[in-house]
Amino acid sequence: MTQPLTILGLCGSLRKRSTNLSTLHAAGELMPEAMTLTIAPLDEIPLYSQDVQDAGFPAPVTRLRDALAAADGVLIASPEYNFSVSGVLKNAIDWLSRTQPQPFRMKPVAIFSVTAGPVGGARNQYDLRKILGCLDAMVLGKPEIFIGASGSKFDAEGRLTDEIARKLLRDQMGAFADWIARAKRFAA
Ligand SMILES: Cc1cc2nc3c(=O)[nH]c(=O)nc-3n(C[C@H](O)[C@H](O)[C@H](O)COP(=O)(O)O)c2cc1C
Repeated sequence: MTQPLTILGLCGSLRKRSTNLSTLHAAGELMPEAMTLTIAPLDEIPLYSQDVQDAGFPAPVTRLRDALAAADGVLIASPEYNFSVSGVLKNAIDWLSRTQPQPFRMKPVAIFSVTAGPVGGARNQYDLRKILGCLDAMVLGKPEIFIGASGSKFDAEGRLTDEIARKLLRDQMGAFADWIARAKRFAA
C-alpha cells in the first residue's frame, strides 16, 4: 500500500477570491490518492519584529511551525507582487525561519503561481526558490507551473477550469509524491 502523505498548503494571497487559493484547492483534488492537503491560514501571522519574537513567538506562528514540521511536504501557491514574492508569504517564511528546529530544513516543497498577467509569476518563483535555498528546503525542480492570464481560466464560482493547468497540476502532484518518497529514502 502507498504510504499516506500529509501536505501543508500555504497561499501568498489573503484575497477571499484568490486564484492562488482556488488553485491550491484544485491541487488538493488532483493529488494522488495517498496525499492529503491541509491549507494553513496566514492572515493571523503578525508582521515580523525581533522585539515580538524576543517576547515569545506568537501562537499563530508556533501553530504554523508545528503544522509545517509535522507535514511530509509543503505546497506553496503565490501571486507575483512587483516581480517578486508577496509580502504575506515572505513575512510568514521569515517568522518560520526563526523557529528552532528550523522547519524548512530538508523539507520537500513544491511551488506554483497564478497571475492575471501573461508571465504567470515566474520572477516570484525564482525569488522564492532563492529564499527556500537559504533555508535548506528541498524544492521540487520540475514540472514548473506558471498559470498566467488567469482571467480566462476560472469559472464564475472561482474554480480552476483550464484543462492544461489542471493536467500540469496533476503531473506536478505526482512528481511531488515521488520527490517526497525520495527525500524520505535519503533521510533514512
Ligand atoms: C501589489 C501588487 C503587485 C503586483 N505585481 C505583479 C507583478 O509584478 N507581476 C504580475 O504578474 N502580477 C502582479 N500583480 C497582479 C497579481 O499577480 C494578480 O492580481 C494575481 O492574480 C493575484 O493573485 P490572487 O488571485 O491569488 O490574489 C500584482 C498585484 C498586486 C496587488
